[in-house]
Amino acid sequence: MASLSSCFAIATVCILSVLIKARATVPIFVFGDSLADNGNNNNLNVPLLDKSNFAHNGIDFPGRIATGRFSNGFNGVDYIARFLGFPIGPPPYSSITKPNQMLRGVNFASAGSGIQDYTGPGTINMTTQIKNFQKVAQVLRQMLGQSQAEHTIATSIFIIVTANNDMFEYYFATGAANAASNDQFINNLADRFIQHLMSLYNSGARNFYIAGTGHLGCVPFLTSKNPAGTCIDTLNQLSMKYNTIASARVSQLSSRLQGMRYSYSNIYRMTSDIIESPTLFGIADVQNACCGDGKFNGEVQCTANVTYCHNRNDHFYWDWFHPTQAIYRITSQMAFFGSLIYSTPISIQQLVMGI
Ligand SMILES: *[C@@H]1O[C@H](CO)[C@@H](O)[C@H](O)[C@H]1NC(C)=O
Ligand SMILES: *[C@@H]1O[C@H](CO)[C@@H](O)[C@H](O)[C@H]1NC(C)=O
Repeated sequence: MASLSSCFAIATVCILSVLIKARATVPIFVFGDSLADNGNNNNLNVPLLDKSNFAHNGIDFPGRIATGRFSNGFNGVDYIARFLGFPIGPPPYSSITKPNQMLRGVNFASAGSGIQDYTGPGTINMTTQIKNFQKVAQVLRQMLGQSQAEHTIATSIFIIVTANNDMFEYYFATGAANAASNDQFINNLADRFIQHLMSLYNSGARNFYIAGTGHLGCVPFLTSKNPAGTCIDTLNQLSMKYNTIASARVSQLSSRLQGMRYSYSNIYRMTSDIIESPTLFGIADVQNACCGDGKFNGEVQCTANVTYCHNRNDHFYWDWFHPTQAIYRITSQMAFFGSLIYSTPISIQQLVMGI
């Protein structure tokens, strides 16, 4: 925290940062998959690959704790929370024991889940994540009273990071080889996503940050299986198509729903820029997982049994499916403060300043 004397010395900067902090500590409610989960799966009866609460995960997290984040350190939600003035993202729903732990927001995300409730069997599916939010909203009404609770929810940010596992499962099941089936799959996915947004809107949510999907075909798990060692183009195409259709549907929805505001981030564009000019972003390796084993370190999960790299800050991938905290930080900065080539129609910062 800036001391009072440095406030006087650089008065305008100080006033600005105080204003941003005062406006900006809005609660955050988080929904989605392993890119956002921070511990909800830890005690769930799901396959090992949907868990991460063991070494070497968390090796760069404060205290070297493996919290259940799929990262060597923080994840993207943590960085967005930090830009908003919080030390870290909101607590996982599974860890909450007292109502006042809900006041800065709650994370409902579950690794392995998707937009479709049948994606990631055994994980906390999206319908249940939203039901869990509705339970929290009920507790907030009891704690704060009806109108204050409604105001709190309407001035919170709803972060949604999903669709990745739906596309992975579809690709594994079908190879995504049929253009007509792909179109139908993507349209159904976008429709279902809109239904979830409407459920949240009907529960009082007004401000949404939606993370788009990135280069799913480039994760080390898939490139390690590709004899050419290159990205799976059909899956990248699917991801791009999803973003085009989903962002258009969200735009239409926002013009129908009074008071709905949103930022949809073009993660695909961000990761293209990083992959094309990694050194501009301080990244040296965009191919190998830091933690894992086999080709590209992408053949097995990051567990205590495998090795990990020491130059984690210059790797794109932490493990076979997930980025390092360096990439979570860079993409979160782009989504929060970055140019509008990365966000439609506004950045997260603009979303927050308008609340
Ligand atoms: C979603 O989760 C709920 C609660 O676990 C479960 O009852 C429901 O069957 C799930 N839906 C699907 C399609 O798996
Ligand atoms: C590590 O390897 C041992 C012996 O093969 C195995 O029993 C254990 O389950 C492995 N642990 C993890 C986290 O994969």
